[in-house]
Amino acid sequence: MNPIMLVAILMTPFFFLLLARRKVISQKEALLPSPPRLPFIGNLHQLGSIPHRSLYKLSKKHGPLMLLHLGTVRTLVISCPKIVEEVIKKNDLVFATRPMSKLMDVLSYNKNDIAFAQYGESWRQRKKIATTHLLSSQKVKSMSFDRTEELPLLLEKVVDAASRGNGVICLTEILNSYVTNVITRMVLGSWISKGKKTLLSKLSHDSSPLFYEVSFEDLSPNLKWLDVLSGLDRKIESYKKNWEALFEETIKNHGQESKEVNGKNNTYFMGTLLDLQNDSSLGFDLTNDYIKGLTMDMIIAGIDTTFATLDWCMTELVRNPEVMKKVKDELRKVAHGEDMISEELLGQLSYLKVFIKEVIRLHPPAPLLLPRESLQDCQIQGYNIPEKTRLVINAWAFGRDESYWEAPEQFKPERFFDCTVDYKGKDFYFIPFGVGRRICPGMDFSMAIIEIALANLLHRFDWSLPSGITIEDMDMDEGCGVIAFRKQKLELVPTASKVN
Ligand code: HEM
Repeated sequence: MNPIMLVAILMTPFFFLLLARRKVISQKEALLPSPPRLPFIGNLHQLGSIPHRSLYKLSKKHGPLMLLHLGTVRTLVISCPKIVEEVIKKNDLVFATRPMSKLMDVLSYNKNDIAFAQYGESWRQRKKIATTHLLSSQKVKSMSFDRTEELPLLLEKVVDAASRGNGVICLTEILNSYVTNVITRMVLGSWISKGKKTLLSKLSHDSSPLFYEVSFEDLSPNLKWLDVLSGLDRKIESYKKNWEALFEETIKNHGQESKEVNGKNNTYFMGTLLDLQNDSSLGFDLTNDYIKGLTMDMIIAGIDTTFATLDWCMTELVRNPEVMKKVKDELRKVAHGEDMISEELLGQLSYLKVFIKEVIRLHPPAPLLLPRESLQDCQIQGYNIPEKTRLVINAWAFGRDESYWEAPEQFKPERFFDCTVDYKGKDFYFIPFGVGRRICPGMDFSMAIIEIALANLLHRFDWSLPSGITIEDMDMDEGCGVIAFRKQKLELVPTASKVN
């Protein structure tokens, strides 16, 4: 018999087996609850301007595990902690990677960062560097000088802004500039100029909506011209050029800077990383591109999340005067008449800490976490999930789940006194920092900035709404983007507080 015929006959059963398997997969996949979709765009139109809220509503109708088609991208949306627990316990490794696209390439500094890069050995090395050398509690503590040196400037800015005009200040802008100042000096060094800080703040804000931009080139290389026409390519080019200029300047500066800045050891992240390049015990080559990717992450992942949290904290305090009173009473007790709260005192502020937890329960700064993608076929809730399925976890919905939280819509920090629940990734119904292998490594870093700023803003000032504005006038909707800022800027009237 002709050998080709023989192979064909032998292969036939495998061929039918493969066909049957594909059919089973698509049949099981078809059973996944899924809202009706339109041709070409799929369910994109159902995301609305605030995707976590739209997905929450859709999940009420279609269930806690839904399949959406976002353009051509098959996307699984989880809105219930039990299912996330199953995924993390059984398939964390399968979902340990991030989807890649033209924009993810830009945000990951061409796959050289942690947050947006794909899973693998080099990602693991970079994450270890970040957790050991940049964001460990020891390192966070050692950078206390940078945080506290920025505090008087923050308080002065409040006084200065209030002295102008009618006493109403835009607190949102002041908080943004404080967080940008602290994080950029911790990441890039205290020498960084005001102009550069403004640029970094802009680059950080620009990355959030960039995340949701659609690149036609991703849909088909033949459509690349549409990215040129829509201005996306120009936007990306200018974004990349700005980062590159900053990086080059910082690296050059590091060589010239003395190891002593303001009498303190020079411990900023980029400096630490550049010094580590000479450490042979690392076991791998810490390239300049890795350093740039890591640095970009610290700015992009650090500034907006921390600033959004601070803004929500001040918003909830003004909306809940009885909570504001409790926070201030605790501060007065701990401060013993001192007009500044030092970092050493933060450990005694247990009410402030549960207050912050309550804020991020209701307003997780990254409500849909960051998307993941399956590296291979797997099963969730008995459904077959094929390789390359995108996974979106609606952590915003978890904070409102009545099966886990009593009266979830009520703002009640005390609920955290009665339980041991924490945001470190063990309690699946409270995961504002994510969960599993891709969990955020920056929790301690951001909390240190948030706590010290809040403690002093509240100890030094009483805060009220401008005259004629009531709590009901405050719009609590979020703006568009991967980070959920409050859409409306927070305008308040500060008055000096009695510190004893
Ligand atoms: C309130 C502040 C913050 C919140 C709520 C937050 C939240 C998150 C979330 C939800 C993720 C994705 C986790 C997942 O996929 O499961 C993440 C990842 C990450 N965050 Fe944060 N973050 C905050 C602050 C920071 C800060 C200050 C830094 C660094 C300076 C940082 C660095 C990172 C990095 C590098 C990742 C990527 C981790 C990975 O993919 O393995 N974050 N963050």
